[in-house]
Amino acid sequence: MKKLDLERLSLKLDHRALRLTYPDEVEYLLPDQVFHTDKDAYLKRQSYKQFISAPLETRTLGKWLRCLSAYQPEYQVLPKYRYPSAGGLYPVQTYFSVKPGGVNGVEAGLYYYHPLKHRLVQIQVGHTLPDELFGFKHKQIVQQAAFYIFLVGKMDAIEPIYGEYSRDFSMMEAGYMGQLLMEEGTDNGIGLCPMGHLGGIEKYRDLFQFDDNHIFLHCFIGGSISPEQTKRWGSVTDAPKSEDQVNSLTEFLMQKLPYYMVPSLFNILDSIPLTVNGKVDREQLSSIQGKNVGLFREIALPRTETEKKLIDILQEIFQIREIGINQTFFELGGDSLLAVRLLSRIQEIFQLELSLRVLFEKKTILDLAKYIDVLEGAIEFSGTEAVEEGAL
Ligand SMILES: Cc1cc2nc3c(=O)[nH]c(=O)nc-3n(C[C@H](O)[C@H](O)[C@H](O)COP(=O)(O)O)c2cc1C
Repeated sequence: MKKLDLERLSLKLDHRALRLTYPDEVEYLLPDQVFHTDKDAYLKRQSYKQFISAPLETRTLGKWLRCLSAYQPEYQVLPKYRYPSAGGLYPVQTYFSVKPGGVNGVEAGLYYYHPLKHRLVQIQVGHTLPDELFGFKHKQIVQQAAFYIFLVGKMDAIEPIYGEYSRDFSMMEAGYMGQLLMEEGTDNGIGLCPMGHLGGIEKYRDLFQFDDNHIFLHCFIGGSISPEQTKRWGSVTDAPKSEDQVNSLTEFLMQKLPYYMVPSLFNILDSIPLTVNGKVDREQLSSIQGKNVGLFREIALPRTETEKKLIDILQEIFQIREIGINQTFFELGGDSLLAVRLLSRIQEIFQLELSLRVLFEKKTILDLAKYIDVLEGAIEFSGTEAVEEGAL
């Protein structure tokens, strides 16, 4: 995991979007409050970031796209859809960019999905959108993809009624459509990943034969998925190794916490138990037995008398047992107040008056111990005369 991913993870774990609730507030517990009861319903809507190489069959594509097609009920003038639209105007269009070999029986190219005819209308032959469209980060998923979907707002279909709200309303409609496409996709062996950034798609407006009324709203990268992928979240082949996760987590925590607070043992869980409020259920968490991974760092034990004495002092100051000679005073959570305590204890034990500067210069406990040994040796050598620190 990279630093940015960890920042993101820590933001997610904060659950900032959840309203804070207080014990004196009235809460109605809803029946069937067990979270994740219907795992399949959650799995169905997941984002797929890996696709298998099997091309899609036209039959499968057709069955899937039925979810966007119009239905003409009896005694109704206008067709109905499985997703809502402000004022029933349905301004959002669906375009497919099919990659070479992506869909058996469909030539690579750009297509408009006609919801009344339930047909793919060819607009451009040959897949001309580059793999770099979605940036380097998405290179792998783009390479495995069979097609891209673009949801596009046709503004003149909505603006006469909703004016300045038209873009927002169209965006909401695109959201409803996306949910449907994702859920129905899983049922048909088709995976989708929503793309927040439309990349440089504006450059390709001409390919779509768009005028000023068309606005790109949202897009998806899609392809075939295996049945196995629909039964679990995330990538099937690239599940990160627990040891790698632990190393990255440790690195991340080292930047945020004093060393002594960084855990040396991690417990890897499949998921974090949540309360009905959606907060981390700490009680349940402490009782779960996950996979233990650690110790990520060796505690180097003291060997000399000076090292042992220094470790004793630090254990007393920081009230922690596990301190190694390869650690520094500041890593352990030392600050200026604790530094004064440490220096005064050193004076008591070693009869040496050290300055604060030494703690910065002699970084590890090992270095500090060596420094003290040299000072003591020098004192012995010169009898009772005081030795200048700077002379060493
Ligand atoms: C508006 C939006 C933009 C997104 N953009 C990206 C993206 O650029 N790259 C990506 O890998 N996933 C993207 N996603 C997918 C999210 O990463 C995914 O929905 C989220 O991690 C939750 O995982 P899940 O959908 O499998 O439950 C986007 C999702 C949404 C709704």
